[in-house]
Amino acid sequence: MIHKDLIKKMTLEEKASLMSGKDFWQTKDIERLGVNSIFLSDGPHGIRKQAVAADQLGLNEGIPATCFPTAATVANSWNEEMGEKIGEYLGEEAIAQKVNVVLGPGINMKRNPLCGINFEYFSEDPYLAGKMAAGYIRGIQSHGISACVKHFCVNNKEERRMAIDTIVDERTLREIYLTAFEIAVKEGKTKAIMSSYNMLNGTYTNENMHLMQDILREEWNYKGCVITDWGGSNDRIAGLVAGNELEMPTTAGETDEEIIQAIKSGKIKEQVLDDCVDRLLELILTTEEVYKKPHMEFDVEKHHRVTQKVAEESIVLLKNEENILPLKYDKKVAVIGDFAKEARYQGAGSSIVNPTILDHTLDCFDESGIVSIGYESGFERYGKKSKKKIDRACELAKQADVILLYIGLDEVTEVEGMDRKSMKIPENQIDLLNALQKVNPNVVAILSCGSAVEMPWIDKVKGLLHGYLGGQAGARAILRVLSGDVNPSGKLAETYPIHYEDTPSFYNFQDKEVSVEYREGIYIGYRYYDTADIDVLFPFGYGLSYTTFEYSDIEVNKEGVIFKLLNSGNIAGMEIAQMYVGCRSEEVFRPQKELKGFVKIFINAGESKTVTIPFDDKTFRYFNVKTNKWEIEAAEYKIMIGASSDDIRLVDTIFMEGTGAQLPYDKDKLPSYYSGKVNNVGTEEFENLIGCKVPVSTWDRTKPLGYNDTIAQCQYAKGLFAKLVFRIIVFLHWFLRKIGKRSTANIIMMSIYHLPFRGIARMTGGALNMKMLDGILMIVNGHFFKGLNHLIKEKSKMAKGKKS
Ligand code: BGC
Repeated sequence: MIHKDLIKKMTLEEKASLMSGKDFWQTKDIERLGVNSIFLSDGPHGIRKQAVAADQLGLNEGIPATCFPTAATVANSWNEEMGEKIGEYLGEEAIAQKVNVVLGPGINMKRNPLCGINFEYFSEDPYLAGKMAAGYIRGIQSHGISACVKHFCVNNKEERRMAIDTIVDERTLREIYLTAFEIAVKEGKTKAIMSSYNMLNGTYTNENMHLMQDILREEWNYKGCVITDWGGSNDRIAGLVAGNELEMPTTAGETDEEIIQAIKSGKIKEQVLDDCVDRLLELILTTEEVYKKPHMEFDVEKHHRVTQKVAEESIVLLKNEENILPLKYDKKVAVIGDFAKEARYQGAGSSIVNPTILDHTLDCFDESGIVSIGYESGFERYGKKSKKKIDRACELAKQADVILLYIGLDEVTEVEGMDRKSMKIPENQIDLLNALQKVNPNVVAILSCGSAVEMPWIDKVKGLLHGYLGGQAGARAILRVLSGDVNPSGKLAETYPIHYEDTPSFYNFQDKEVSVEYREGIYIGYRYYDTADIDVLFPFGYGLSYTTFEYSDIEVNKEGVIFKLLNSGNIAGMEIAQMYVGCRSEEVFRPQKELKGFVKIFINAGESKTVTIPFDDKTFRYFNVKTNKWEIEAAEYKIMIGASSDDIRLVDTIFMEGTGAQLPYDKDKLPSYYSGKVNNVGTEEFENLIGCKVPVSTWDRTKPLGYNDTIAQCQYAKGLFAKLVFRIIVFLHWFLRKIGKRSTANIIMMSIYHLPFRGIARMTGGALNMKMLDGILMIVNGHFFKGLNHLIKEKSKMAKGKKS
């Protein structure tokens, strides 16, 4: 233990007190021993420090801070160094706001395009996500404070995230869902990790010994802290035993008392608590060092300019027919679309940043040098149809040489705590596009959204620029790409399928009540489309430039791959070259190819550069479920260098000596996994993969409701009162949507409807404790008067306790 002497001076009560928050954002202090509180703040793309009213839904404003492009955007840059720079700036702002722990980056895999907070995550590929995240973490922590990588793990859908049980096989868990975290721990050296709300194969993640002990502490040798997601603690003692140091936010001491009692009764050893206290003290003491120096403000203008650069490097040019872009300065341009007036630049929920400055397209248009002949909104932002708006836009479009059409998803569609219902953009925008294209075919669409959308309308546009969610200077960055001041260099960090139905998790994402089964196994994103040979709209790693690159002279040796890249066009540009590896043996099923390295490189027109991509510990490994270890199969491997996952320019092979491990699978029992056609794997085959029975996935409607059941389950509760409450919630949600209050309707869904009962106690800062919750559950389960009596008794006990 590092802080043995300090811990020796603490009473049991003091030690336990450190294990949960003092309020919504701070840890507790121990004044007599000089242990201070530390402040934790979201988040991943800008500091959201709430000075007054606290919440984790993004309802109350934070202190102004620079809003960087979200992770989904920055991932398109494929630039780890830039990730590190962003981290440095985030760290600087965190210090200016006296924050010790920045709650980010978020690095969950994009398993399905509908996951509500895909905009907060980097990629469908663990290697890319891990490398980007490690950059952010190094940057943030270079100031002495801490990052907090989240949400550990398999939190790949938002709806019912606090109750859902993720069923996943060990190999998929390791290769797909944990690799990014592994990189964040080993290469980023994150000092903190946030556990996710959900369960992993039947146990809440922060209580899951296999995840928290075997993998995180023993295999990865992680010495930092695990912090629960807000309100995500279930059984405090089980969490503590698994090594979950800090529960957030406050429970007004209720769970500290549980820890004290568990130690006094001999249920757990005091050493368990001491170890957790030791690691938390290390986080507290190291992250407050920086505050011994004089206070630092940050340069608002400079940071704004940096976010613009980041956005510029992250924009992806997806289509450029007839070289419609960059726009020639003599072209008359009509600017159409509501997003040109009010930028769509970040997602909704706990990550929402109150920007210091906010650029909107119309406000920066003049400086771009592009000649605008006018603006029309063309559509209602929140989907209402308006023929008048379309007609006016068409009138303007007729007079223009080129139409710049700003479309995308609105801010209440992509939100934390909810999943999208479809991959479509609103119909009123498509109606507008169809009408515009009839009067003027020179349409360039500029897309703003943080996750993949379907584009049945793609043939109607000649140019398509994807700005994703570009942060507070995103609008200006897009104009600079349109005008040609910046040569686009972003490439997609996720696949765009043609139809949502094509996605490998299509049948296994939404519908189950209790669990979500990862039946597609390791085949997510391009790993699936590629192996199962499914056409996609835009492949992983795809993006155009205003110049062209030629690849040649591949050479593979034990250390890595070397090749030449020539900029064969007329202007300077940056290319992202990607290294994919595929195994020639068919003994262990695998995707056709997997990303194992990449570089982003600047090359002047006509210049040629030699590029090296080294192999590393992840290049040839696979997780063997028989030996329970990473192994290498003795085989020939294809080394593929591509401009995207679907555009392989160079191929070579290398033979690798294996680790000699026993083969893990019985091929006959896993036919879908061996063919890669995994979008609808049957129960028996999935059970062969996970090695046990699939748990029952429907609610047991005969049982009384308990702590971990959700308010939504009141629909079948015994108590009439609970059923009535359920109906009121459903009605309210319907009504709010009907009158156009979609954002409030969303809040009802995520913070009430899908909340487990225990959340009532965990999220009310001690206003309602677990004993009172027992009373509520009695009411819910049909014992109205008994429950009410219990509730009142416990409430008055609490009041007396507070007084004394
Ligand atoms: C989110 C976290 C966030 C926390 C605190 C939770 O709802 O899942 O990502 O850091 O709130 O705001």
